[in-house]
Amino acid sequence: MRITRLSMALMLAAALTAAHAGESASENPFPLPYASAEDYGAHLRADRLVQQMTLDEKLQFIHSEYQMSQVPGGGAGYIQGVPRLGIPDLNMVDSATGSGSTTQPSTTFPATIALAASWDPRLAYDFGSEIARAIRAQGFGMGLGGGTNLAREPRGGRLFEYLGEDPVLAGEMLAARTVGTQNHKVIATIKHFAGNEQETNRMGGNSQIDERTLRELYLLPFEIAARDARPGSVMCSYNRLNGTYACENSHLLSDVLKNDWGFEGQVQSDWGATHSTAPAINAGLDEEEDVGATVYLTPDLVKQALSTHAVSEARLDDMVRRKLYEMIRIGVLDDPAKAGGSFDFAKANAFTQAAEEQSIVLLKNDNAQLPLSNAGLRHVAVIGGHADVAVLTGGGSGNTRDPVTGNFSGCGGLVFGTSTGCGWWTNPWLKLNVPIVKAIQTLAPSARVSFAGNTDQTQPFRAYTQQEIDSAVALARQSDVAIVVVAQPAGEDFGDLQSLSLANPSNQDQLVEAVAQANPRTIVILENGNPVLMPWKDQVSAIVEAWYPGEGGGQAIANVLFGAVNPSGKLPVTFPVHDQDTPTWGTNGVFAQDPVYSEKLDMGYRWYDAKNIAPLYEFGYGLSYTNFSFTNLSVHRGPGHTLTASFTVRNDGRVAGAEVAQVYLGVNYNGEPPRRLVGWQKVYLNPGETRPVSVTVPERMQSVWDTSSNKWKYVQGNAVYVGASSRDIRLQSR
Ligand code: BGC
Repeated sequence: MRITRLSMALMLAAALTAAHAGESASENPFPLPYASAEDYGAHLRADRLVQQMTLDEKLQFIHSEYQMSQVPGGGAGYIQGVPRLGIPDLNMVDSATGSGSTTQPSTTFPATIALAASWDPRLAYDFGSEIARAIRAQGFGMGLGGGTNLAREPRGGRLFEYLGEDPVLAGEMLAARTVGTQNHKVIATIKHFAGNEQETNRMGGNSQIDERTLRELYLLPFEIAARDARPGSVMCSYNRLNGTYACENSHLLSDVLKNDWGFEGQVQSDWGATHSTAPAINAGLDEEEDVGATVYLTPDLVKQALSTHAVSEARLDDMVRRKLYEMIRIGVLDDPAKAGGSFDFAKANAFTQAAEEQSIVLLKNDNAQLPLSNAGLRHVAVIGGHADVAVLTGGGSGNTRDPVTGNFSGCGGLVFGTSTGCGWWTNPWLKLNVPIVKAIQTLAPSARVSFAGNTDQTQPFRAYTQQEIDSAVALARQSDVAIVVVAQPAGEDFGDLQSLSLANPSNQDQLVEAVAQANPRTIVILENGNPVLMPWKDQVSAIVEAWYPGEGGGQAIANVLFGAVNPSGKLPVTFPVHDQDTPTWGTNGVFAQDPVYSEKLDMGYRWYDAKNIAPLYEFGYGLSYTNFSFTNLSVHRGPGHTLTASFTVRNDGRVAGAEVAQVYLGVNYNGEPPRRLVGWQKVYLNPGETRPVSVTVPERMQSVWDTSSNKWKYVQGNAVYVGASSRDIRLQSR
């Protein structure tokens, strides 16, 4: 059963570059399961190479060679090739938001959560392509980018690296990104498989998730990407899942991934996530990566396991074959990446700006406060968030550590603190060539643009002093408009956020409230990777969600403020009113060391809908400088239980813009939440233009996981909702 939408099928066809990719099984001249001549050939070549490899050559092919800090080119892992057989070395690097090389300059993209907010698979494809170009030029044939754990825990420290709370949105965006990367001869990894939704007890917390919840929510984005985009690698995660470490969980790696989904690539461990030799290998782990040196899949230990028959030679061959097959299929074996390639940083920088412009979400715009008009604007106050020099990025392996923008030696961001070193998770501020203040000044040339705030760069996140707040207020009072930038840091190995409040880690709410009292035209810009609480929401006139905006972010934000860009992003996560409203808060917000996913399917917007809790801003929400109307819904049920929702969208306003028309389904079945997203289309419309939209929903997206038969089960007669967000439903039908 195919779960793709047409757009994804087209991209996959392009990825395969095979005339036979679209053929049905009966027309396929190649023995199943090969999709094409190329695919068949890749399998044959991989088989032959395995036959020619010695035991030692195979053993060196299943673990990373160097200690992490010594990987050439500043990469994260390195597999030695076999030159006598023409098998090149394979160097891999983190690639969540650009190259994570620790030694080579790179471009910082907006965070992945921003990409999800664009709801634009084409942009995700380009995002994957751009990053692939960058890392190939640095000598890497594999990118560890493609994080997609769902935002179950809104305070999750790595949420910015992921694609939000909905499995279909996350899966389709991940698939598009993966195809983009692999079309540029870079193997893509999707991660962290699975149940890795929090940082608390990061190296082994036991996520307890029932099978139905797993299949319908947490595994689904991986399934969509694995089937539609065929990533070369899946990274198993640090946590345990239902009692067993993910990297030795045979249900996860073998039953589901390799058998049910037919995944032909390799499973690699997260760095240090392997806990055994034979159990891990037999469960389905194909390659070990470690932060120090290899620990469990060392040649000696694997040889020993072979000699006692704890591991079979056939399984070792399978591990090696999987990697070779992907290297051949994706083009890395015949055309390996070479370090020192040329790369157009200016072009990449322009892309980061365009990507951010698609991803910014306009949350509030009272009395059409935005876009700002240059006419009559004399004094603009920009306050806080280091907006005179930088934007915030997420920390950890999802960061780029030696960005090309700005002046700093060997580390990303402003150099905070007195230490000479700058660890990659302690410098999340990215210094920009065009920071927000400068970009605004360019767009408002006749205005005086002034900055007030925390100009102290000795500590990344200290609180504003009363004196700083007073001068910000004084500046706001003299200005026509006050733009306040607030930022919420998060990162891998920082732990999870204790609260979604901006008061954590500093007194930014107080700053916003003080400025809002001084100037009725106060606009708040948010730089964050998690939902944010906004106790001051009713006191300000406009709110712009910019996420971690990347190195083109200063210009992108200014372009939205002044209307050079009409915002079209939509929230990929729910923003709650209070921490207490979230599904994981419990009675006191204490994180479980071994989380039980007891809310089951009621996660993200499904939770708020099922429990009737009004969010601050709901999933799928985002404003535009124009208005769209929806009319004429018809629902057609076709062969194979496909469902097609057809309707029209019209731009009723006076500027061009894009609407994300969202299709939700109410699946009438025990335990299902009121609505689930089943598809969407982002439609670009000129003023007055009307466009017919058709969204086809495959059977799978209408199904539930039936625990008695351990299979998907189609449920009939469900209600279809079409709208501009998960709660702004404009059309409805059976
Ligand atoms: C992270 C992975 C990352 C790896 C290599 C781990 O700590 O969890 O996402 O790819 O490090 O840097």
